[in-house]
Amino acid sequence: MPDELVTLTIDGVPVSVPKGMLVIEAAKQAGVLVPHYCYHPGLPVAGLCRMCLVEIEKAPKLQIACATQVAEGMVVRTQSPQAKSGRMGVLELLLINHPLDCPICDQAGECELQDFTFQEGRPATRYSPDYAKRFNPVEDFGPDVLYVPNRCILCTRCVRFMEDVAKEPVLNVSERGDRAYIGIHPEGRLDHPWAGNVVDLCPVGSLLSKDFLHKARAWELDKAASICTGCSQGCNVTLDTRENVVVRVRPRPNLDVNRYFVCDHGRMNYRWMNRGDRIEAPLVRRDGDLHATDWDEAFALVASLVRGAGGKAVALVSPRASTEALFYARELLRGQEWSGAFQVVMGEEAPLAGVPNLALRAERAPNARGAELLGYSRDYAAALAAAETAAVVLVLDEPDIAVNTAGALIYVGTVLPERARDARAVLPIANVAEEEGTFVNRDGRAQRYFQAKSAPGMARPAWWVFSELVATLGEQGGGGGRVATAAEAFDRLAASVEAFRGLSYQRLGFAGASV
Ligand code: SF4
Ligand code: SF4
Ligand code: FES
Repeated sequence: MPDELVTLTIDGVPVSVPKGMLVIEAAKQAGVLVPHYCYHPGLPVAGLCRMCLVEIEKAPKLQIACATQVAEGMVVRTQSPQAKSGRMGVLELLLINHPLDCPICDQAGECELQDFTFQEGRPATRYSPDYAKRFNPVEDFGPDVLYVPNRCILCTRCVRFMEDVAKEPVLNVSERGDRAYIGIHPEGRLDHPWAGNVVDLCPVGSLLSKDFLHKARAWELDKAASICTGCSQGCNVTLDTRENVVVRVRPRPNLDVNRYFVCDHGRMNYRWMNRGDRIEAPLVRRDGDLHATDWDEAFALVASLVRGAGGKAVALVSPRASTEALFYARELLRGQEWSGAFQVVMGEEAPLAGVPNLALRAERAPNARGAELLGYSRDYAAALAAAETAAVVLVLDEPDIAVNTAGALIYVGTVLPERARDARAVLPIANVAEEEGTFVNRDGRAQRYFQAKSAPGMARPAWWVFSELVATLGEQGGGGGRVATAAEAFDRLAASVEAFRGLSYQRLGFAGASV
């Protein structure tokens, strides 16, 4: 049954929203961001900072938009002189004890206190320059969290996250009044597997990530929508890059997958994207050694090896490869007697107790489901055994496992492991931060990721490498013909694999869709 709708007016804009919605959320639908600190859509409402004061017609005094439900015919004014003056007063109180840290604060440039003060705060303080502001030393809260109490505005987002979402209540508000600060249980640490979210939730620079400390100013960062590769949950993330280096991973909201959160394992799983020891040119074996060459010679050699195989071919693929790459790797071996398999590294499962169906999954790979849908098996040992007698063995970014084969080894990867040095050809590919593509998470949701930085040297997306090889072989059919973009590669996949039928990059958008 559709939700019952309520119509109201916010700053003169009429909106119809489901009954029971909070005014602050309804305002977003009218294109109005009501300033707020303690409110966060992923946390229980606290209604304590009073920053979201708005005028509501017929109400005797200003109301907080984060704890007031919409009503039929309601008239809300966020920009009336009374509402603005109320919020200006709240800001003045918050700033009494706030240090002038912006020039040295990691949050500067993405700080909600800075933003709202700039937007509607008083131009100057009414306090004497001699007023001694509160001072408390910086505290080490956990493996990746520092607490700078002087900047804390006591919004309690961090306390509520640990209590109601992580269900590990190690934080509280200690002391009262102007002496209050966020306390941590004397025997507790912020070492819960999802604790890093408090850093994103903190609206000011009071909770900081040690990993990101002093790495960049917010305005130096470029941002790209991506998907975490840490496990099969498929959390939506943003990759922040500075000068072509990934420096931070943060959650990107997706209410169906990860709500507003990512786990610490996923948050820290980015350094390998910046590895310097990358393969930068195609390599082919000549006179016993691997020599750098151009793509044409490499494609011609690999095509002749595949064409000449005439028998058994084995693909050992990574469940971290894009669906598009896995599809075209399969297309390359079509017509051969081929088998393909992938291996998944396993770890410990770590649920976020307060959110259903959200956990760091034991299966530490983002696209095992996609590989399965494309016909790759989980029986890696059997594939390794089959490789011994195969005429061609294609390895796509191989765990470092020895591949014994009497046939030709073709290695397609980002770095060259010692054990791939016997390869007849080595083809350099982009990593997840350097290409566009899709993964299918454990629940069968196909999700897009976008390019965040450029690939080194001649490295290209794996889907492009395989699709060029398919074109070189001149095969026709679902994967035949050259493709120029990842979107086109996905279209070919959707046209030929039943599970993906009807999907396109446009349909997937930023939130993904079920396959
Ligand atoms: S540390 Fe940050 S999130 Fe926690 S109460 Fe203070 S301002 Fe709010
Ligand atoms: S739960 Fe999995 S997908 Fe989500 S952030 Fe953690 S490692 Fe990444
Ligand atoms: S955001 Fe409404 S009271 Fe804090």
